[in-house]
Amino acid sequence: MDRELRAHRDPSRLAVGSRVTGETFEVVLRRRLTRRDLLRTGTLAGTGLLLPQSGVLAGLPTEARASGTGGGASDRNPLGFRPVSGSRADTVRVPDGYEVQVLARWGDALFDGAPSLVTGGLPRGALLVPGAAAAQARQFGYNCDAIVYFALDRDARRGLLCVNHEYTDDELMYPGRLGLAREGAAALSEWCRRHPEAARVSLAAHGASVLEIELADAAWRVRRGSSVTRRITGTTPIEISGPARGHVLLRTAEDASGARVLGMLGNCAGGRTPWGTFLTAEENLHDYFGGFEAWLASGRAEARVADAHRRFPLRELSHHGWEFTESRFDVRRSQTEALRFGWIVEIDPRDPEAPIRKRTALGRFAHEGATCAVAHDGRVAVYSGDDALFEYLYKFVTRDRFDPSRPEAGRDMLDHGVLHVARFDADGTGEWLPMVHGAGPLIAKAGFADPGEVAVKARAAADLLGATPMDRPEDVEVHPHSGRVYVSFTKNADRSAGPREAEFNGRRLDIGVDAANPRPRNDFGHILEIEEEGGDAAALRFRWNVFLLAGDPAAADARFLAEASALRPGRLGGRDTYYGGTSTAHDLAPVGCPDNLGFDPDGNLWIVTDGAQPRGDHNGAFVVPVDGPSRGQLRQFMSAPAGAEVCGCEFTPDGETLFLSVQHPGEGGTLSRPVSDWPDGGGRPPRPSVIAVRRRGGGRVGS
Ligand code: FEO
Ligand code: CA
Ligand code: CA
Repeated sequence: MDRELRAHRDPSRLAVGSRVTGETFEVVLRRRLTRRDLLRTGTLAGTGLLLPQSGVLAGLPTEARASGTGGGASDRNPLGFRPVSGSRADTVRVPDGYEVQVLARWGDALFDGAPSLVTGGLPRGALLVPGAAAAQARQFGYNCDAIVYFALDRDARRGLLCVNHEYTDDELMYPGRLGLAREGAAALSEWCRRHPEAARVSLAAHGASVLEIELADAAWRVRRGSSVTRRITGTTPIEISGPARGHVLLRTAEDASGARVLGMLGNCAGGRTPWGTFLTAEENLHDYFGGFEAWLASGRAEARVADAHRRFPLRELSHHGWEFTESRFDVRRSQTEALRFGWIVEIDPRDPEAPIRKRTALGRFAHEGATCAVAHDGRVAVYSGDDALFEYLYKFVTRDRFDPSRPEAGRDMLDHGVLHVARFDADGTGEWLPMVHGAGPLIAKAGFADPGEVAVKARAAADLLGATPMDRPEDVEVHPHSGRVYVSFTKNADRSAGPREAEFNGRRLDIGVDAANPRPRNDFGHILEIEEEGGDAAALRFRWNVFLLAGDPAAADARFLAEASALRPGRLGGRDTYYGGTSTAHDLAPVGCPDNLGFDPDGNLWIVTDGAQPRGDHNGAFVVPVDGPSRGQLRQFMSAPAGAEVCGCEFTPDGETLFLSVQHPGEGGTLSRPVSDWPDGGGRPPRPSVIAVRRRGGGRVGS
């Protein structure tokens, strides 16, 4: 979700012993292969069955990688599709020879006997009547985002699809809602009190879905009522684990234990663990809580709790107005409830009864996603961006080692380890700064009484360590062959051309350009390429370079740059572009606001966008080789319907299906003034949906 555009607004049984009949193919395969085999051969890299192995980087000369002439897989499998151009059509456009299947729409029934949503009733208030929330909790949720596919058989034609539901567009669900910018506090309060079912419906439309899907006759279908089908919502009981479990800052009147929270919210991008669980990231939780300023001004705010909120401030009026009917979303009535959101959540997709856990060791911030990589010694690194202006990039490294022969032993690995935050230095190096309680500035005198408080106040801890404030860190992906790490920074219009002090999220800082955020008024965002020292995901040092300065390479009023040496802060215009060092702007697609990333099995980087595009077109999906002579030659693969961002970006292991989330189609309209009727057409209300894109006749997507 682009929060600026809408500014106001134990898994006890993991893969083994699961309720899916038999063991998964992943588990069987992992058991047969030792980790050493995997590192040596990269056997599973690119199959989607195991995480990228950083260790395979070791054999490749640094110069070859840095210059992009290493002859990567991208050369062996060049992109062969005819690109689409930017579009403002209210449809999904893909290249000739490809077909789009709408796999799951908001409101589709997921369980036997559950009703499907009839969208024709929405303008008449179908979701405002008692019982609507209970129905929604058994249907596919709203605003699908992260997609993670777990193959269940050898040819990957049957699998589990885990999908996040980030937030709701209330003005596209309920009559009388106009969007907060147009309705104001009094109208929102009155509407919410008159329609208390709406908050319950919206809570039920948040969270995630776990679906079983299968491919037959070149079409995917959802197995409704499969034994693994699960809906997690904004009210599902979730365990809090790790250092902040039971912390006084996480206790509420309803939960004196500080160990059990109802629901997960703002779940944006996600990831998979080597042991086969789904990670989902709580991001824009400040959209959900109201009464914050009144609470601060009331004289009843506890100083320690207020300090815990300082770097992740809430609002007086929430985006959804739940505080008017659900007391836990009113900070005046529950000052710590919001601190129980903003975490990485771990879900076992194979057992719908397995406990769900918020893993507090990974810190509390606006988590965009959670991307895992196995280090040389078997520890697991989890990369996560904090998607807010001038926030940081983090990496958690587990204490324990992953044993591929016993994936179930990974069960609680995310409860023990060290969170790090990135400092990017001007010379192209960088450091992961450990955020350890009691070490350096993270001591009681500075407001960090224990490890739990470091986790809850992760942003404040990162400030003290000297982390680099970035242009809204979004998704992170690890290259399946090289182990290089790619991070998208979606945009930052507030980045100043020169040194300037300003206040963002509760602290004053210099918002001037720097080497890693080199463009002033960065409207279209950028992507960095990181190489961990020694190719080891657990390294404390790294090298980095700019891979992409997004924008329009053909813009008449900006420069297209081909030399990395030109990427100096202070010498760049806000719309200058750079595409991986490729030398000519000819045939390059314009792109803006990179958000989620993905790699196909050939190692091409896929970028999906959320935000204004340079030529005013809709968001889309793009692909760019990162190695070989075609490095940087970015093409557009897909254009989205009106108002939508594109998320997900998940391939099946064979690379023959690309799953994308079309999130918030029709945003900018209302039920009475729609701007989109995708995907159903005929003037019906738009529905966020997961699509599957395949080549007609088969073959790898993009090839
Ligand atoms: Fe929910 Fe940062 O995108
Ligand atoms: Ca986004
Ligand atoms: Ca996102």
